[in-house]
Amino acid sequence: MSYSKENTLLYVENLSVAYGDKVIIKDINFVENDIVREGSTTGQVICFVGRSGRGKSTLFRALTGLVKPTTGKILIADTLTEGGNDAKEVCEGDVGFVDQKYTLFRNKTVYEALTFALRKQKLSKEEKHEKIISYLEEWGLEKVKDQYPNELSGGQRQRTAIIEQIFCSGHYMVLDEPFSGLDVGNIEDAKKAFNMISSLHSFNTIIYSTHDIELAAELADSIYVIGYPTIDGEHANYGTIVKHFDMKELGLAWKEFGLGHIEVVKQIKAAMLAS
Ligand SMILES: Nc1ncnc2c1ncn2[C@@H]1O[C@H](COP(=O)(O)OP(=O)(O)OP(=O)(O)O)[C@@H](O)[C@H]1O
Ligand SMILES: [Mg+2]
Repeated sequence: MSYSKENTLLYVENLSVAYGDKVIIKDINFVENDIVREGSTTGQVICFVGRSGRGKSTLFRALTGLVKPTTGKILIADTLTEGGNDAKEVCEGDVGFVDQKYTLFRNKTVYEALTFALRKQKLSKEEKHEKIISYLEEWGLEKVKDQYPNELSGGQRQRTAIIEQIFCSGHYMVLDEPFSGLDVGNIEDAKKAFNMISSLHSFNTIIYSTHDIELAAELADSIYVIGYPTIDGEHANYGTIVKHFDMKELGLAWKEFGLGHIEVVKQIKAAMLAS
């Protein structure tokens, strides 16, 4: 399938994050461009995989401006300028974040939280109500719409957090393990939401992590493996990008899961086990 790479949407150079004197991630470099395909609006879907503790969540906190990098820079397209040509350093709030713990407002019900998430949208009160109700129905949350976070199951909290970010994010959205704890039906809904977000605007960029390697290969058009690098025959104990699979170049992006994907899954698992 033919495509071209246009403006840079995400530029990460020499990124490292340390907590105190403990280096967690280091030497992280990657670039993601706006993908343009004739006859279809295509956003970017980028996945990070890697074994537990390798630094995926730490990287995501840096990408969303929640932690300040120890070294390096993270630039995103300034999508407010015409064509999104200018780059700016990422600040907290530029990138929507669904964290691994699905943090919600403690004192807002599901319905109130979603109303708050829509506050900046130019819709009438009725339109907002309809939009919220249709999402609640689609995501199986209408029965719990008046409940508070401590009265929700883990999966219900997670779905509320995802919808919240769909409602209030700009072009960038980072989801840390959005599929964990979801049942088969919810996973299908989340996949549909990915496709929907991606087809709405060419700049829309979803970055997610998962321990489900099949879901990485099926959904992403770019997959990075974060692991401990081997230097002079020894494992270093900081995370970095040890492998990149460009599913576009491999001819596997935007396709039904097939034999080619199964081969990539094998290679990803091998790269993870080695790091
Ligand atoms: N605030 C912190 N202070 C010190 N160390 C931290 C802090 N947060 C995370 N770490 C450490 O950083 C390392 C990477 O953690 P991180 O949560 O980024 O891993 P992960 O790849 O997301 O793992 P998982 O797949 O289990 O979610 C771990 O060793 C963790 O103990
Ligand atoms: Mg994590």
